[in-house]
Amino acid sequence: MDIRLITATFSEVETECLVAVVLDYGDKQKSAPKLASKDSAMEKAMAELVSSGEITGKAMEAVMLHRPQGLKAGRLLVIGGGKAKTFNHVELRKAAGTAIRFLKTKMIKSCAFALPELPTGAEDAVRSIVEGAYVADFDPDTYRSERKDLSMKEATLVAPAGTDPAKLRRAMEQARIIGESQNFTRELVNEPSNRMTPTMLADRAKKMCAAVGLKCEALGPDQIQELKMGAFWSVAQGSDEEPRLIVVRYEPQGAPEKPVLGLVGKGVTFDTGGISIKAADGMEKMKYDMAGGAAMIGAMRAIALLKPKVKVIAIVCATENMPSGKAQKPGDVQIAMSGKSIEVINTDAEGRLVLADGLHYARTLGCTHMIDAATLTGACVVALAGVNAGVFANDEDTYQHFTRALERSGEKFWRLPLDAEYLEMIRSSIADIMNSSGRGGGASTAAMFLKEFVEETPWIHLDIAGTAWMEENKSWIAKGPSGVAVRSLVEFVRSYEGSSK
Ligand code: BES
Ligand code: MN
Ligand code: ZN
Repeated sequence: MDIRLITATFSEVETECLVAVVLDYGDKQKSAPKLASKDSAMEKAMAELVSSGEITGKAMEAVMLHRPQGLKAGRLLVIGGGKAKTFNHVELRKAAGTAIRFLKTKMIKSCAFALPELPTGAEDAVRSIVEGAYVADFDPDTYRSERKDLSMKEATLVAPAGTDPAKLRRAMEQARIIGESQNFTRELVNEPSNRMTPTMLADRAKKMCAAVGLKCEALGPDQIQELKMGAFWSVAQGSDEEPRLIVVRYEPQGAPEKPVLGLVGKGVTFDTGGISIKAADGMEKMKYDMAGGAAMIGAMRAIALLKPKVKVIAIVCATENMPSGKAQKPGDVQIAMSGKSIEVINTDAEGRLVLADGLHYARTLGCTHMIDAATLTGACVVALAGVNAGVFANDEDTYQHFTRALERSGEKFWRLPLDAEYLEMIRSSIADIMNSSGRGGGASTAAMFLKEFVEETPWIHLDIAGTAWMEENKSWIAKGPSGVAVRSLVEFVRSYEGSSK
């Protein structure tokens, strides 16, 4: 999808379809819904839709009008933005996505968005529409023989005549990079495990890195063992597919020595559970167990193109988790790279094993702050479902950076606890810790396990098990891989620009 920005009077825009957001001002006096972009010609064109009650402004309602009177556009698509009081960039992102997905199914190939007014300004509106439009344009049906290409060819943003387009165009370009990077992550996550082995994931990362000018290395089994990554290797040893430790470096000229941000991702390209094997029902979904790693790779793509002056290193621990004659068994004791010993109670708690070494390795590379993302626990899905992802932090200042990132990304995360008591729950009688406790608090005990390898480094942990895969189609995003965390990771990195801690 191409995207461009023009300034014009809305009624003068010639397009297949003009898109406008309408807001619900409903209160006791039953005020009529109103456009989010003030324009008398568009208001007139939709007056009857309003008076007949066919448009209420309800969130994500979509009504299309052909040959709208007084407009040069072929159609006018009115999208509900919800209550006027709560309308913001989050709602606008979804409204723009709803418009794109509505038009796609009707084979409409181009459209123009009338830029709505947001309290946070026009740049924020541009950013939200562009991100929302790219996310909406993605469909996961890659391997359908009779796949129709429904993708939008061109979206035009229309800012009111008289606005200075320079700043808005910059916001548009940046949002395009972020939206496309989120979709790149979704492409990776969407691939089944026979088409996205650890080796293939590393190759895809390398190809992307070459295209955007990033340094990328992929270490194989020998190097992983030489580094004494006993926890990572214990998962990899059961599979015929070779593991890969993917390391991507972004070290821009002029960036301060510190901070060095470490982005560590779980890249389990298929999780059978290993010897503690999972039930057959729904196991096919475990191809998305590399979504945390894919989020890091997508975020690095965006970072390379946006060029913030901050050093960033991404580390993805890519492996399969398989049962076999070489697989580790419950009760086995493994020595992690940090020297800590781990009793493996359950081979299905493999994410924390691979991340233990990934996080420790990030510290040895000089990372001063770390953030990891992983489809780590079913317990997090039970606690938060697909509504929020879990976030854990061992440092308040770093957590503040992350909450600021969320304000920009519009993604939903909910903080969960990391009290010292959770560590008591994973003490082992034979080793330093065990990888599973099974007595409740599963998301927190998993996070606490990771914390043992993070030690004093300021760190954020994202459990995206419930949010990395959309269970259903939404009006603004397809069922399938969501690309969650990419936008927040990018904003998190950007929030360190100009800091020298
Ligand atoms: N990859 C799973 C977690 C998961 C569950 C992701 C559901 C997406 C949806 C992880 O490796 C796992 O199996 N965790 C176990 C840990 C348990 C054995 C301590 C779990 O959550 O059941
Ligand atoms: Mn597992
Ligand atoms: Zn897993």
